[in-house]
Amino acid sequence: MFVHFVTDDPTKIPAIRAMLEPQHRVATQLLGDKDARINSDGVLMVDADLRQMDRVEQLRLVLKELSSVSEKLFVVHNHVRSMIVQAYALGATAVVSRPREIVFKLAQIEAAERVKHGDLAVTFPEIAASAAVFASLFSAIRASEPINLSDAERTTAQIIKGVSQNGLAAWLDDVRRYHEGTFQHCLLVTGVAVGFALDIGFSSHDVKRLGIAATLHDIGKARIPLSILDKPDRLDPGEEEIMRRHPVIGYELLKDLPDISPEILDGVRHHHEYLDGSGYPDGLTAPEIPDLVRLLTIADIFAALIESRPYRPAMPRQKAYEILSGMGSKLERPLVKAFRNVALVA
Ligand SMILES: [Fe+2]
Ligand SMILES: [Fe+2]
Repeated sequence: MFVHFVTDDPTKIPAIRAMLEPQHRVATQLLGDKDARINSDGVLMVDADLRQMDRVEQLRLVLKELSSVSEKLFVVHNHVRSMIVQAYALGATAVVSRPREIVFKLAQIEAAERVKHGDLAVTFPEIAASAAVFASLFSAIRASEPINLSDAERTTAQIIKGVSQNGLAAWLDDVRRYHEGTFQHCLLVTGVAVGFALDIGFSSHDVKRLGIAATLHDIGKARIPLSILDKPDRLDPGEEEIMRRHPVIGYELLKDLPDISPEILDGVRHHHEYLDGSGYPDGLTAPEIPDLVRLLTIADIFAALIESRPYRPAMPRQKAYEILSGMGSKLERPLVKAFRNVALVA
């Protein structure tokens, strides 16, 4: 793939070449260099200090000439929020923070290109539509706009259709190939939960109920700072504390919606509770945790384990199921047993 690298710091050029060549062809350009030849094929990658207005102005000129480039990747070190916002304002299609993420992202773009050119079959048109709904739900919440429950219902219906028609395995593979972070997680949890409900013979009404709870389960993460949400490393105790607020935030966001049902609110607030009382936020114990929530918790843990992340390979489903089985009295054993078929076979 052709990578057009634009930077304000010449010392970054050898590093990017060392990382991407020879697999990719790299052309570099220093900001402000008027004689630079611009090639509008391939991917544009920008690594510059977007807090400096003169750099932003220079970049604007470069981007104007490259308006036909469809993939614009911005590197923002340490998740500096103002730079992330500026990157998107300049037309970024993705923001990455670490070199390994860049390699991963380029592989994703290449895969998507192959699909576009017919090298691979697109199994799930539903994935793109569902991801778009998650994106709009999250951005509505970030902008303090009202949440539209019918969006969540629509996307759940699409996921149910996708998983029932093509199977869970294909859904999981496709989601992990094309989506990242929180959206990938929500798509996976919903797919796994729906696959589970279908496998144990839930009525279509109950499949839908569990699916909507799964779609909305982490909606509170929309209010968690991106520096914590997208942090590629382990969270420190302070960050962990903030992250653990997401079930209550989600509950608060949804509780006054006119058509919201109590079991969905339960799922959103209690999907991190354990039967032995060691979960959060309310430290509930078995008698207080309804069946739907127990199912959702299993789907959530399993999906989190098999997620694909830029900085670590996806865990095999067998290994993820072993971890789930090893959680003992935290989860309902018969349900974990029933989940085996979904985890390993479906
Ligand atoms: Fe969660
Ligand atoms: Fe989750």
